[in-house]
Amino acid sequence: MRDPFGREISYLRVSVTDRCDFRCVYCMAEHMTFLPRAELLTLEEIERLCSAFVRKGVRRLRITGGEPLVRRNVMWLFERLGARLNESLDELTLTTNGSQLARFAGQLYSAGVRRVNVSLDTLDPQKFRAITRWGDLNKVLAAIDAAQAAGLSVKINAVALRNVNEHEISHLLEWAHGRGMDLTLIETMPLGDIEQKRTEQYLPLSLVRARLAQQYTLEKSAHRTGGPARYFRVTETGGRLGFITPLTHNFCESCNRVRVTCTGTLFMCLGQNDSADLRGALRLSNDDTLLDAAIDRAISSKPKGHDFVIDRRRKEPALTRHMSLTGG
Ligand code: 5AD
Ligand code: SF4
Repeated sequence: MRDPFGREISYLRVSVTDRCDFRCVYCMAEHMTFLPRAELLTLEEIERLCSAFVRKGVRRLRITGGEPLVRRNVMWLFERLGARLNESLDELTLTTNGSQLARFAGQLYSAGVRRVNVSLDTLDPQKFRAITRWGDLNKVLAAIDAAQAAGLSVKINAVALRNVNEHEISHLLEWAHGRGMDLTLIETMPLGDIEQKRTEQYLPLSLVRARLAQQYTLEKSAHRTGGPARYFRVTETGGRLGFITPLTHNFCESCNRVRVTCTGTLFMCLGQNDSADLRGALRLSNDDTLLDAAIDRAISSKPKGHDFVIDRRRKEPALTRHMSLTGG
């Protein structure tokens, strides 16, 4: 699949639920209204949809949410998709908050998952509670142990937050690298109403990087995971540090991915409203002709890039949908 700008689309992110057992301050409002269950694709429909993309050339799948591991029976989906791994699929991964990961680590590995991204913004239990509102740091740390023990390679994703974890980043880095985990830092993106101002949380990664560069030697690395992060090798720790900078640096030129929400809406870009309804095509017929045509039409209209801007006077998000709907 090639889009109008010549980008080869080989990476699909699939959100399997909009629900989550945390309420991270930059992601959700405390009192979120979730979708009625009937709106969600069934796991069978998700599998059919992924298969259609794989037939069209997608080689990597990332399962996201919300929190994917709170979806009932989600292991069934991992097993079905994992069965494609040695032929049509190169990689099956997931992004998780870690709350349920200890329980599923072994099954994920058996299904063929080899890498997981765990979202963790702080190692301070009180701050962790303040950021996630509902999360328990010890549970997540135990889940990371379990994941590594099961053979999964863990990458830590941390959202950089002004005045919150801003002065803890080198600690996170030493901790992650000390355990053989890469660390990727993410800038907050203006997605969805969160009942507070975004600009108060926004910490540009250019600043974080400049500060880290005073303490560490950051060598540019050619490493890519198929995602939007740019990596550095930290000489002192030997570990890898990634930056995802949607606002300070445009990562769109090399975009190889599209996203499907848990209701079967295909978003061609995280930062644009262009979308295509695939649920209709899935439900209208058991034959995949309509689905295939809907996917082709959508890819041929993938936008060139996002136009997020941080507007300091505005409280409203740039886009009204939450990250938990489209997946990170
Ligand atoms: N901006 C940046 N990152 C976000 N995440 C959730 N919402 C946002 C946002 N508005 C992150 C989570 C997780 C990943 C899936 O996306 O912390 O690491
Ligand atoms: Fe849940 Fe992830 Fe959103 Fe936090 S960032 S509320 S863990 S979906």
